[in-house]
Amino acid sequence: MPISPEEKGFGQGSPELARWAEKVFQPEDAVLAEIRARSIREGLPAIAVGRFDGLHLEVLARLVGARKAVEIGTLGGYSGVCLLRGMPEEGVLHTFELDPHHAEVARESFRKAGVASRAHIHVGSAKDKLREVEHLGPFDLCFLDADKTGYSGYLDWAARHLRVGGAVLADNAFGFGGVSKSGGDEAVQALRRFNEELAQGGRFRATMIPTEEGLALGVKVR
Ligand code: SAH
Ligand code: DHB
Ligand code: MG
Repeated sequence: MPISPEEKGFGQGSPELARWAEKVFQPEDAVLAEIRARSIREGLPAIAVGRFDGLHLEVLARLVGARKAVEIGTLGGYSGVCLLRGMPEEGVLHTFELDPHHAEVARESFRKAGVASRAHIHVGSAKDKLREVEHLGPFDLCFLDADKTGYSGYLDWAARHLRVGGAVLADNAFGFGGVSKSGGDEAVQALRRFNEELAQGGRFRATMIPTEEGLALGVKVR
């Protein structure tokens, strides 16, 4: 019996279907697997996006025809490589990272992935450093994945510096499972506020891709 539309859930929790999808869509190749492993060996926290999130980023970058993109939170370069794979030869990613060691690991990742000339790493607090690229806008895509308490500010930045039709994407939009409960720590509260602003703020038409962490996705409409 097919499920009636009003009973259709949000997301798919079946491990069997997940295994099947991994086999068919092959979201992580050897280059990405090496980046994930080397990042851990280098002592970086194991908080890169998931394999399917990475593939989503690549395909979404292609969908918006991204030539100029911004990423906030580089870590070891895993998601940055995914974004650059979704961009054309002349496409450029400006990626922001607070920790110089993370940035060094990412530099090696971009080199190994053959995208070093198109990846510009800005080391320092994104809040201060974003100013450096404002004159290069408007941008086509903005991916948020750094300090969660900064998301609202980054969303404002994206609203001001994306073109109409450009996309804002945000990892961890489910707030580590906490956004639907009341309260929570600073990060969870900030993520709850971020989602409300994205969904209801009027500047974006937005949806949620129900990955493990929640990948929020908005298109700038005005
Ligand atoms: N997008 C990465 C994962 C990012 S993890 C990937 O999927 O591969 C979050 C990163 O944001 C960490 O490397 C952390 O050092 C960085 N970060 C935290 N606060 C920041 C800030 N204020 N400005 C820039 N980077 C920040
Ligand atoms: C954390 C940050 C992330 O961006 C993530 O995807 C998972 C965990 C963290 O700060 O713990
Ligand atoms: Mg994240």
